[in-house]
Amino acid sequence: MRDQWNSKLAFILAAIGSAVGLGNLWRFPYIAATNGGGAFIFPYLFAIITAGIPILILEYTLGKTYKAGAPGTFARINRKFEALGWFQVAISFLITVYYFAIVVWVLCYIGYSFTLSWGDDATTFFVSDVLQATSSADGTGGLNVQLLIPFFIVWAIVAIVMYRGINKGIDIACKVCLPILLLCTAVMVIRGITLPGAIDGLEYMFHPDWSAIAKTDVWVAAYGQVFFSLSIAFAIMISYASFLPKDEDVVNTAFLTACCNHGFEIFAGIAIFSILGYMANVQGVGVEEVAAGGIGLAFMVFPTAISSLPALNGLFGAVFFITLFTAGFTSLISIIQAVITGVQDKWEMSHTKAATAVMVPAFVVSFVFITRSGLDYLDYADYIANSFGIVLAGIVELVLIGWFFKPEKLREVANLTSNFSVGQWWTWCLKFVTIIVLGYTFIISMTGFIREGYGGYPLWIGIICIAFLILTAIVFTAMKGKPSFYQKPDDAPGYDD
Ligand code: PHE
Repeated sequence: MRDQWNSKLAFILAAIGSAVGLGNLWRFPYIAATNGGGAFIFPYLFAIITAGIPILILEYTLGKTYKAGAPGTFARINRKFEALGWFQVAISFLITVYYFAIVVWVLCYIGYSFTLSWGDDATTFFVSDVLQATSSADGTGGLNVQLLIPFFIVWAIVAIVMYRGINKGIDIACKVCLPILLLCTAVMVIRGITLPGAIDGLEYMFHPDWSAIAKTDVWVAAYGQVFFSLSIAFAIMISYASFLPKDEDVVNTAFLTACCNHGFEIFAGIAIFSILGYMANVQGVGVEEVAAGGIGLAFMVFPTAISSLPALNGLFGAVFFITLFTAGFTSLISIIQAVITGVQDKWEMSHTKAATAVMVPAFVVSFVFITRSGLDYLDYADYIANSFGIVLAGIVELVLIGWFFKPEKLREVANLTSNFSVGQWWTWCLKFVTIIVLGYTFIISMTGFIREGYGGYPLWIGIICIAFLILTAIVFTAMKGKPSFYQKPDDAPGYDD
């Protein structure tokens, strides 16, 4: 018997937990600020309506109807589609191993916050003291031994959650983490907006630059952010939805997930930029000089901002890193589950066996990211996963479902159980708009990569990552699964129906 969520709430919280991740805190605010500010809302809303919500509805419907993770779902639709599922699973595996390292650093920083260990040079502290990064570009520079204990702690917590399964593990983890996440973000928003200079930060983030709407880059950024933020085309949402009863209404859930995720993004943006505005004010510089995204924001800029707060610095530091930890943790478990579900389905393994088969290799590979060159590898792997992996996975998913397997069949299935019906617009969104935007993104980013590489890193490492994704898809598809893996439920639409 396939596991099933205890309640609809469990599924909704797990899906929101996956969507709300580090991307909401350190990616969205910066992308919005640098892509038109308040004007970004238009391309972004457009991307949410034409790609985010339709693909969420699609993935939820696929998962709950075909009752399998991404590889099984696609194989049950048509055996030739199976490779797409494994490609998505391979991306998830790649992201798992490096996302892990970030969660480990965040855990360390919860501890460092209390004593503001970064002193007055947060960047040097992060690079030289915490990561002990080497300047040599080749080789790993050896293991960074001081990260081992937090690394084992995070792995232990993840392993406990994953072995306990979806209800006793993932559901409980989300019910613990999400309220803490919301509370901590609220504390930061309140602290942020009551600081002098906050308004400058908010002005920087929200001031509309209408000319941005005419730029293709801005539209590409909006679509990229929607995919990343909603965890779509990662195999995650198909895997989570496969544990739903088949009569569950997923259309309203897709809207709810998107609203919570994007609402939270804006809320987080207020926290981040009001505090950055204050910091710029203290330093007497413009907000644009301190604004940053990603790792730079979390471990370099924000610690400096925390040190400059008027009071209770250590406490606010801890609150900030607990926010990152809870957001990252619920995303991390969702992505590992996506891989576990794929493996478990294909070989009809017990949950424990499948969890072990996935976590042992992930554990071994994740060591790479706590070596002294870990940051470089992480940056590179992140680039490949996002610019190549997710974009390609998204295009192939939409082409296969939109053009080969008629989405109208799935629309009927979705409408059978939904409160309000999905109209034809849904099919149109899947078949046209998003494929064009993603296709354009793919061509631009791949020609750029082939011409210039990325970040000055050796090209071959990127090629190994890409080869890993493609080979995993080929090899796992070629392996023989249990007959049940290919067997679609009777009431699920078939390819030739
Ligand atoms: N939606 C996540 C985020 O915003 C993306 C993600 C999901 C990343 C799962 C890693 C794992 O961070």
